[in-house]
Amino acid sequence: MAIRKVGVVGCGLMGSGIAQVSAAAGFLTVVREVSPAIVEKGLNIIEKNLARLVEKGTITAAARSEIRGRLQGTILLEELKDCDLIIEAIIEQLPAKRELFTTLDALCPPSTIFASNTSSLTITEISAATKRPQRFVGLHFFNPVPVMKLVEVVRTIATDPDVYEEMVVFGTKLGKTAVRAHDSTGFIVNRLLVPYLLDAIRALEEGVGSIEDIDNSMKLGCGHPMGPLTLLDFVGLDTTYYISQIMFEEFHEKRFASPPLLKRMVLAGWNGRKSGRGFYDYSDPQKPRASKL
Ligand code: 3HC
Repeated sequence: MAIRKVGVVGCGLMGSGIAQVSAAAGFLTVVREVSPAIVEKGLNIIEKNLARLVEKGTITAAARSEIRGRLQGTILLEELKDCDLIIEAIIEQLPAKRELFTTLDALCPPSTIFASNTSSLTITEISAATKRPQRFVGLHFFNPVPVMKLVEVVRTIATDPDVYEEMVVFGTKLGKTAVRAHDSTGFIVNRLLVPYLLDAIRALEEGVGSIEDIDNSMKLGCGHPMGPLTLLDFVGLDTTYYISQIMFEEFHEKRFASPPLLKRMVLAGWNGRKSGRGFYDYSDPQKPRASKL
């Protein structure tokens, strides 16, 4: 079965990026949000990104219009029912995801493939809310989706091998390198990334180095685009805290346990870049300054 039309549920940071790369790859794409204002906000992010690509000469103005022409925003889940593939990128909460997929399962024909962009929940548990676990995968993208070249394609023990291979091909058509992962909490990237980020916080707690020195060490010493504390602010401290809790609950290993400093920063509402403050203070977004902790 060829994928022609893609539905994306959620048009936040991840959903808008997924919708953008899907439309850019030539797929008719319908993206659904809960209110017209949020749909508009998500489509605006995409329009700004496309405008920047035209400015830089990466795409032509005509290509931008074609991509935009393949994108449709909606508040109605019903408008996704003729999609060949539906990718969910809503809030990272199991009951919300299960409820959404139960509704979609009743709306869509049995052929529709379902995918979740969850970073830490179990695909098996989400798929069990439907009658089609064999047509269910994880498609885990990375922020910012239009830039990051990876998608993790996740299969459960119930995923049909043909559906899985089709999703690997789909990921490649989006211009990503598609890596294959089993439905193990955190998949490949977060299994390795989360302990690294938590260790950076532990190093800070133990006074091994300052915020800037820990970041510069990994940036300049290891060639990472961002140091770990900058990356934590970028991903969101609340998001990382939440993922670490799920991973700790699953594996009961110390390396996934949240350091006390992370918990306190989240309790204080210091969630990183999006809240204006995390390991850095973003009062002047062009010149973040290390926070006094
Ligand atoms: N949307 C679209 N394009 C963007 C963008 C965005 N939000 N942010 C940056 N870009 C583009 C820029 O236009 C620029 O394009 P160009 O090279 O064609 O001119 C390019 O990305 C580089 O941007 P900048 O020059 O402004 O800034 P940087 O060179 O510092 O790059 C970055 C920014 C791409 C974010 C880079 O710092 C980076 O790769 N950081 C690491 C990001 C990362 O690790 N992400 C994964 C997080 S983990 C995750 O998402 C999983 C989850 O489960 C937790």
